[in-house]
Amino acid sequence: MTFRVENMSFKQGQEMTFTGKTKSGASNFSINIGHDNDNYALHFNPRFSHGHIVCNSLSGGSWGDELQEGHFPFQDGEQFKLVLNFTNEQFYIKLPDGHMMDFPNRLGDCKYNHIMVDGDVKVISFKVK
Ligand code: GAL
Repeated sequence: MTFRVENMSFKQGQEMTFTGKTKSGASNFSINIGHDNDNYALHFNPRFSHGHIVCNSLSGGSWGDELQEGHFPFQDGEQFKLVLNFTNEQFYIKLPDGHMMDFPNRLGDCKYNHIMVDGDVKVISFKVK
């Protein structure tokens, strides 16, 4: 399923809480935060077959260097919660088990309007405050 909101407002210092449920037999999903389909400051992509999380940025339609996180607290068919915030330098992502990961804010902006969620996940809620 693809879920897209193009007019949200997620600003530096705010907190986004995202609740989703992975499909049974999930292979991967992504949560993408940025300006539009070609510019993501954060592509957060758990890959179940590898048991790792890939993060990347997309700038002008081109992927940057991937970072991989081997900590993988996701299971197929389960509900999970993520809490995200960012500065102009970093994103901070609290994984469902409380483990923290970060990813550079390569677009360097202090506000993003677009969230796109794709793959084997159902969006239950997302809030920014
Ligand atoms: C590619 C994949 C994209 C994205 C990217 C991240 O291999 O097709 O969907 O996940 O990696 O670096």
